This record gives sequence, structure tokens and C-alpha cells, in this order.
Amino acid sequence: LVSPVILCGGSGTRLWPLSRQSYPKQFVPLVGNNTLFQDSVIRLSEGFDGIDFLAPTIVTASDFRFIVAEQLAQIGIDPGTILIEPQSRNTAPAILAAAHYLAETDPETILLVAPSDHVLQDPVAFHAAVKKGLAAVEAGKLVTFGVKPTRPETAYGYLELATLPNRLDAAVDLEKFVEKPNMARAIEMLETGTYLWNSGIFLFKAKDILAAFDLYAPDLMPPVTNAVSTAKSDLGFLCLDPAAWADVEDMSIDSGIMEKADNLAVVPFEGGWTDLGAWDAVWRETDPDADGVVTAGGATVIDCENSLIRAESENLEMVGIGLRNVMAIAMNDAVLVADMARAQDVKTAVAALRQKG
Ligand code: GDD
Ligand code: MG
Repeated sequence: LVSPVILCGGSGTRLWPLSRQSYPKQFVPLVGNNTLFQDSVIRLSEGFDGIDFLAPTIVTASDFRFIVAEQLAQIGIDPGTILIEPQSRNTAPAILAAAHYLAETDPETILLVAPSDHVLQDPVAFHAAVKKGLAAVEAGKLVTFGVKPTRPETAYGYLELATLPNRLDAAVDLEKFVEKPNMARAIEMLETGTYLWNSGIFLFKAKDILAAFDLYAPDLMPPVTNAVSTAKSDLGFLCLDPAAWADVEDMSIDSGIMEKADNLAVVPFEGGWTDLGAWDAVWRETDPDADGVVTAGGATVIDCENSLIRAESENLEMVGIGLRNVMAIAMNDAVLVADMARAQDVKTAVAALRQKG
């Protein structure tokens, strides 16, 4: 039995202006008909040879609770629990809260922690990878899923292996976890050939991740334990206690725990994976025409190459002429025009806009 924990409390700022503070990317149908969140839930609810998924625990921010409930209803999936954070404190507290909550029933419970901003082309291959990870989990490992890098990406964490075996049947121990390197380091790691991208999907027993938090992030323990034990049910949501949560510090699971832990194992995953983190990833993920041009919303393009041109609202006429490596995303109240190579910098722009108020 595997207990899925789905994280969907992030704000997705690099996909502005489509992804907004009040309605972030995971709740938008970016590619295909379902939203990324819905696809994340669906692929962890189908049984597969040897894996039985329990009802998922969804961890999200208070602002998104009704979106979550509505999107689950649309796909006809009953969540086990929707756990609500009074404020976003990044992934470490979200995962710790879920682990505490699930450990109350059984500390041996196996958690499959999954983000909700990914596209996985082959769910069957993913299930097979999860199955490979289970033996390592039984041995007390914290298991990550690694993807072979195809470019020097600075938006991902990297997993260093002793050697990269040709055929991988089981989880292998990890040498080192490196979260979001700079470009020089990313180029180096790609050339070395013994690094995989961290997919951000984790598999472990509740008691083992709790032990890791005890060791590497002991200050998170008291306020998160407190917030879980005094959580209150409200309209079908389980709300973590706001007073206790106020003392919880911001921390990512990657730099807070995974970079420090010495019991990590990795299952290489080759089923096709993308984090739709920024517009260049959306462009790469959507089949472009022969010129590498991706459009949406009926935008008209003339003599453009390697560009993403999206009209994101009805009755919006959009035209691109002679563009190279440009992304243009237009909405009724906001327009982004940028160099495709600067996709990560949208985050900085959003921070500046928030300052402006
Ligand atoms: N509940 C909750 N609360 N969820 C959160 C919070 C929070 O405060 N912050 C982020 N999330 C969710 C996001 O919605 C997303 O689904 C997931 O947790 C991961 O957060 P991101 O903010 O998207 O992380 P990232 O993409 O920058 O980096 C992580 O994922 C990469 C691969 O996708 C890291 O794990 C990297 O190492 C990894 O390569
Ligand atoms: Mg992400």
C-alpha cells in the first residue's frame, strides 16, 4: 500500500501572467484537457501490478482549497484528506505535516510525495519505477526518482551517482544531492555524465522522513507537530493550526533535508518527464510546428521561429511577425514579452510587480 501525498501549494510565479498568486499554474490546463493537478492525482489513483494506492492526501494553501475541491470533483476522485496550510512555507513543512498526520495512523506508512506541476508522458513506466523503489524504502532509504539530463538546467536539483549503470533494475545509493546549481556547475555536471535531474518525486516511510527531519531540521518539529495535533476539520478540509504554523520557518525539502541526508537512493526514470516550471518548458513540451513555433488561442504568426505566442483570453487578437526565440503571453490585463533564454527571470519580474503593489 502506498499513500500518495500531493503538493499543490506553490505559487508558480515563473508562468506569470497565466499563473497568478490566486490561481497558480497547477490548476490551469496548460497542456491537454486536465489541469496539471488533476493529472497528478489521476496517475496516483490507478492501481498497477503490485501497487495499491490509498486515497491521496492533498497538501495546499488555504487560498486554493476550493479550487482543489472543485477540480477533484470534476475528475470524480475522493481525496483521503485535504490538508490546509494557513500560509505557504515551502515544501519541507508541507511534507512534514503530511508525514506526521499519516504516521498517526501508522508510522510504517509508505508516502509517495508528488508535486503537481509535472507532465509525465508514460504513467505505466512511472508506476514501474515506483515499484522498483519499494525495496529500498523497506531498507529505510529515502528514495528519489532521477531523470537523465538533456541540457544544463539551473531550475532543477541534481543527483550524483557513483557511476551511471547501463541497465538499472533497482534503486542505487546516492553520492550527493545538489539543489539548483548555477550555470557553470550545471554544465560541469552534464559533462560528467554521472548526474541525474531530481524529479522532485519522493518515496519513503513516514517514520524515516520524520527521523530525517529530527536530525536535519529539528526546529521545524515542535511547531509542525503542534499544528497537526491541533488541526481542525472545517467544511471537509483539515486545517493546520494557524497559531502553531506562524512559528514554522520557510524551507524546501531539497536544501533542508535531501542535501544533508546520507540514506538517499535513486531510481532512474526514463518515461519522459518535465516540470512545467517556466514558459520555455511549456514551449518545449507542446509539439511545435516545423519552425519551432507554438501558438495558443488562435494567435497568427508570420515568419517566426522558435517562439511561443499565446493569446490567453477570448476575443484577443494576437499577431507575431519575424520573431526569433521570443515568448509572448497576452492576457486581458497583463502581457509578457521576453527572450526565451530569460524564462527563469519572470520570477524576478513578478517579485518587482508585487513590490509595486
Ligand atoms: N503544499 C505546498 N506548500 N506545496 C508547495 C509549497 C508549499 O508551501 N511550495 C511548493 N509547493 C508545491 C508546488 O506546487 C509544486 O507542485 C511542488 O511543491 C514543488 O515546488 P516547486 O516550487 O515547483 O519546486 P521546484 O520545481 O522549484 O524544485 C523542485 O522540483 C524540481 C523538479 O520539478 C526541487 O525538488 C528540485 O530539486 C527538482 O529538480
Ligand atoms: Mg516545480
